[in-house]
Amino acid sequence: MPTAAEVEAGALPVHVGIIMDGNGRWARRRDLPRTQGHLEGLKAAKRVVQAASDLGIKYLTLYTFSTENWKRAAEEVGFIMNLVRKYLFAELDFYRRNRIRIRHAGDLAGLAPEIRREIEKVIAETAAFTGLTLTLALNYGGRDEVVRAIRSLMAGGITPEALTEEAIRGHLDNPDIPDPDLVIRSAGEYRSSNFLLWEAAYAEFYVSDTYWPDWTASDLSAAVQNYRLRERRFGGITE
Ligand code: FPP
Repeated sequence: MPTAAEVEAGALPVHVGIIMDGNGRWARRRDLPRTQGHLEGLKAAKRVVQAASDLGIKYLTLYTFSTENWKRAAEEVGFIMNLVRKYLFAELDFYRRNRIRIRHAGDLAGLAPEIRREIEKVIAETAAFTGLTLTLALNYGGRDEVVRAIRSLMAGGITPEALTEEAIRGHLDNPDIPDPDLVIRSAGEYRSSNFLLWEAAYAEFYVSDTYWPDWTASDLSAAVQNYRLRERRFGGITE
């Protein structure tokens, strides 16, 4: 039986963003290489995508690789990129069954051509699906996204007066996707780490201590339930 508070809870978040953190610590705790943590992290990502789709969430953005992650050891960077290259398109049946549409956020031009091709292929193949929109933030940085947006506006000859919030918003990576309502971070850190800087201006934050590879559907449900009990004021005051 739901509690009275749950019955009165607010709407589902339309867009959820997740900072998937703790793969390395999960592995270290088990005396395993960090790469094993990423492999388990990939399995967790699939469980959570399925759960988001089952819950009826419309948009999910996963922070998979940041513009700062290139500083990691070449072996680890290569491993994560290979995971994406190997599994992104191979999961087409999973996307088809669940009507999942794939999108990308970040600087595509900075990715290796073979990964770019996989991403472009999977975006094209799933473009007509109307279930969950799953955005992979890969080679993504919030500041980088804003810089690229302004560069593109300037290349189009924008005047200082025309440079408005709406103009910038319209030149971000996915202007048709609504701002995130809820940003989740696993593994207990209270940082936004350059994730959806512009878009998450009014997002609710939820931090879980659970390392990402241990995440299941019930961790996502707990985060969503916590969100539904919050009151969102967008800078205004309560009636
Ligand atoms: C954070 O853990 C995780 C990453 C930087 C990589 C995320 C990649 C995956 C989950 C696998 C690929 C997923 C998809 C959806 C293709 P960390 O290494 O920062 O952990 P630590 O802070 O404990 O060291």
